[in-house]
Amino acid sequence: MRPLEFKNGVLKLIDQTRLPTELIYVECSTYKEVAASIANMTVRGAPAIGVTAAYGIAIGASAVNTGSKEDFFKELEEICNVIRSTRPTAVNLFWAIDRMRRKALDNRDADVSAIKDLLVREACEMDREDVEINKTLGMHGNKLIKDGFTILTHCNAGALATCGYGTALGVVRAAHDAGKKINVFADETRPYLQGARLTAWELQQDGIPVKLICDNMAGHFMKSGAIDCVIVGADRIAANGDTANKIGTYSVAVLAKENNIPFYIAAPISTIDFSIESGDSIPIEERKAEEITHIRGIQLAPDGISVANPAFDVTPNRYITAIITEKGIIYPPYGAGICRFSNI
Ligand code: MRU
Repeated sequence: MRPLEFKNGVLKLIDQTRLPTELIYVECSTYKEVAASIANMTVRGAPAIGVTAAYGIAIGASAVNTGSKEDFFKELEEICNVIRSTRPTAVNLFWAIDRMRRKALDNRDADVSAIKDLLVREACEMDREDVEINKTLGMHGNKLIKDGFTILTHCNAGALATCGYGTALGVVRAAHDAGKKINVFADETRPYLQGARLTAWELQQDGIPVKLICDNMAGHFMKSGAIDCVIVGADRIAANGDTANKIGTYSVAVLAKENNIPFYIAAPISTIDFSIESGDSIPIEERKAEEITHIRGIQLAPDGISVANPAFDVTPNRYITAIITEKGIIYPPYGAGICRFSNI
């Protein structure tokens, strides 16, 4: 399963706002359409956002109608700025934009059409690499999973959130593919319901046993011994291991510690922001009130009610048992463990 496909200059995305009741696709043939698809969460999940951004830059650059290098680079900056402003928390977005800009700048001596081709090729390469990274990460994570384990996850860090296979669900898939009998408990993940709509759907599609629970049931199931470990994805990991992920992750991590249950983060190295020392510097996206006051157009809360809707929270490193990456598993103390990868 892949949430994005690039063909003949057009990026085709599964519209994740419509799952699981409708499987429909959105086609983006301009960079502004790509930017809108990230902002309105047609595509979401840190690695998928990053690669979508890369394709957006490739599409935007290809459409720049000039032979002048100076004008081309000016327009490229504008394209990058528009895409940069879509969502603030997932660092993969900024990582992908930087990588694309660097590709263009490192080849500034080539002619404009050659730079355009290089940008398309770079985006395709990032897409291909992402699937490979997830499979390697899954293989490392599989070592932590015993036959018969029940794994709790929050949000969707699956194939839909990446270019295929997934990070947290990549570990689940690797264990399942290895013949282990595993079960998944999926938090519904209010308010946007990525667990109910996306994780439940993609695991069901693959025949991996999954039980959907409301977010406020996680503690009950941990205390009653139903959960063997928790695995979630990440939107940004600070140099000290503090991790931003979907709102509600912090509560799950605290509950896991209280119940002596291992709490794992599964994420590619590109999700580490080496430039920030701790999670205190991670910008948290605030989303619109309607995501809480309404569900699919049905009003749940009184008119005019004041709402807070942070899309992410930060789990301090002391709650994290290990961080599973494509380069191996990082254990505390995270400062030293993470620093080894800073110039990869
Ligand atoms: O708001 P979203 O749906 O983009 O948030 C997604 C998450 O929080 C995921 O857990 C994270 O991006 C990791 S995806 C492999």
